[in-house]
Amino acid sequence: MNLTTLLSEMTLAEKIGQLVQLTPNFFEEGAGEITGPLQELGLTQENLFQIGSVLGTHTKEQVIQIQQAYLAKSRLKIPLMFMADVVHGYETIFPVPLALASSWNPELVKEMASLSGHEASDAGIQVTFSPMVDLVRDARWGRVMESTGEDPYLNSLLAAAFVKGYQGEQAELETNYQKIAACVKHFIGYGAAEGGRDYNTVDISTINLYQYYLPSFKAAIDAGVKLVMTSFNTINGIPASGNQWLMKTVLRERLGFNQVLISDWAAIWELIPHGVAPDLRKAAQLALEAGVDIDMMTPAYQKSLAELLTADDISEDLIDQAVLRVLQLKADLGLFHDPYRGLLSEDRRELLYPEIAAASRRIASQSMVLLKNEQEVLPLQMTQKVGLVGPFATSQDVLGAWSWIGDTAKSVTLAAGLKASLPDLPVVGTDDRVNFTAQEREQMVTLAKAVDRLIVALGESSEETGEAASKANIALPASQIRLLKELYAVNQNIVVVLFNGRPLELSEVFAHSQGVLEAWFPGSEAGNAIADVLLGRVNPSGKLTMSFPEKVGQVPIYYNQLRTGRPLTVENQDQKYISRYMDVSNDPLLPFGYGLSYTNFEWSVTQSSQNLSENQAITFEVKIKNTGRYSGKETIQCYVKTLFAEVARPQRELKQFVQVALEAGAEKTVTLRITPADLAYVHSDLESRTDKGEYHVYLGNSSLAPKVGEIYFQ
Ligand code: IFM
Repeated sequence: MNLTTLLSEMTLAEKIGQLVQLTPNFFEEGAGEITGPLQELGLTQENLFQIGSVLGTHTKEQVIQIQQAYLAKSRLKIPLMFMADVVHGYETIFPVPLALASSWNPELVKEMASLSGHEASDAGIQVTFSPMVDLVRDARWGRVMESTGEDPYLNSLLAAAFVKGYQGEQAELETNYQKIAACVKHFIGYGAAEGGRDYNTVDISTINLYQYYLPSFKAAIDAGVKLVMTSFNTINGIPASGNQWLMKTVLRERLGFNQVLISDWAAIWELIPHGVAPDLRKAAQLALEAGVDIDMMTPAYQKSLAELLTADDISEDLIDQAVLRVLQLKADLGLFHDPYRGLLSEDRRELLYPEIAAASRRIASQSMVLLKNEQEVLPLQMTQKVGLVGPFATSQDVLGAWSWIGDTAKSVTLAAGLKASLPDLPVVGTDDRVNFTAQEREQMVTLAKAVDRLIVALGESSEETGEAASKANIALPASQIRLLKELYAVNQNIVVVLFNGRPLELSEVFAHSQGVLEAWFPGSEAGNAIADVLLGRVNPSGKLTMSFPEKVGQVPIYYNQLRTGRPLTVENQDQKYISRYMDVSNDPLLPFGYGLSYTNFEWSVTQSSQNLSENQAITFEVKIKNTGRYSGKETIQCYVKTLFAEVARPQRELKQFVQVALEAGAEKTVTLRITPADLAYVHSDLESRTDKGEYHVYLGNSSLAPKVGEIYFQ
């Protein structure tokens, strides 16, 4: 298909239509009648059968029906494109992305993206609005559950893994219909909303934007991502969807992105309430001039572009460039060969539930983080008398936000997962997550008195995280803490299992338990995956990718904070004019990179000072031994501190990590390699390069890793 020829055959209305995206309900209206959503947006039936894409269909039958009806009416038979938010699974739900990231395993993330992309493609989805690679530092923001955390290096590795999982390693979208196109979002800085309040103002310096926020988008673009989505927020005062500097100079020129840029939902219209456009017409002009190709769910492009062209306020060339990018994406997806991408073919191999469910269970168990394990309260032993209580004991609210097709009623509860191995397990759940009846409380306390180990399932509901779910208070509900205290008073052998999508304030939970397992929102196979971990079939190996604050007042809190002129040190604890809080420590309760195992690992690293020159690498050898009773996996993390630089630099930054799986008693030597490129940083001229000078290296199993050497780059 020659796309330039096709473009030359299109009328202006047909071109503009390609830049419009609507939800499927627009196609459900009575034939020829202009009512409901179409009327609200001021669009006609003719407009509808010229649009370029649809977001949010549910089934393959719906996709086939809409595509058939559309093609029957479309003059040039340019197929529709179908997009949706397939964020951590389609029907079968995997752990939320913050949990997936805790695996520190790009291969698992790639596998999850590949499987969920396949399942979504079976339902006719061709593009997913994933991955979300926003850097996050504020647990109050509800969307941290969709992110991979606070570190630009890890975020970048995982961003590439998501893209390759959805799209395939090579350019195979055109022929392999199990692959779907990925859309990296939200460009950019959405995770830095002031006060953690969704859609709020963002103010990031350009140097920080380049150093910390761009890398994950660059990684997705380098991995071949097909679309980028704009963010809702402003950058340097200008909302992203109308920000020419951001989209042209940074996205298109600096990052080299030349594919489709789509607005977030209604983000073009939102230029009006942002106060940078007086009306829809101006909003459309600003967005098109910034290079936004698809207008998601507003009539801005549909109603204004023709008028803007007639008034000479925009050039047709801008429209043509946007249309060509949309047509190219359709060609890349193979839609001009088969508008149904194999849905009508008898040979299509649909993914079956048992296959994907087993992967969901395995990946969920790899995503959990053991936060506390005093006196080896875990794993549970089959000889012990175990009980399960709490508001999440029998709850099916385990999928997490952005699992809109996932069926909560089919998800495996913790009680069901444990009972598969412990059929006589006594369980007391609650009807409500926050309000417990006197009878429920009494039954839970009675059970606590009767068992050797008590599992207490606590947490926040799926609705408390995700979009528009910001919170000023990130502790568990007071009623859950009261319950925990009552139970702890009669049995201290308590293991708390947490269901949540953000770092929480956990001091009270830590004070009233022997063990704490961060299960996150584990997905469809939740109960089975948690049982695997509690019963020791899987030794937990997850590591946090967001710091857990001691108090919410510490946020934003992240390990790679810049150094200050008045740092708090061991020596100046008694001084006043130091960067510190009066009422709480500067440290998080749990640092980035933290996570325990049922086994113990001993390390030895040869301390070294080494010179490094251009085009060279230096290595650090770590001897690691599993000295405990269980086989397990450890993540060796390597952090670097730039001693002096042109601009203030973080206290330390993750540069590499290696995962080592060892049987009990086994040992291994692993090598970590540092090159000059790993030491580069963004200077005040906004260029990235490595300075000559001294660097300190830290190796260990969290961001508190001890110093093991120096590097002198010369
Ligand atoms: O993809 C999402 C985005 O993350 C938030 N607004 C709606 C979009 C489409 O559903």
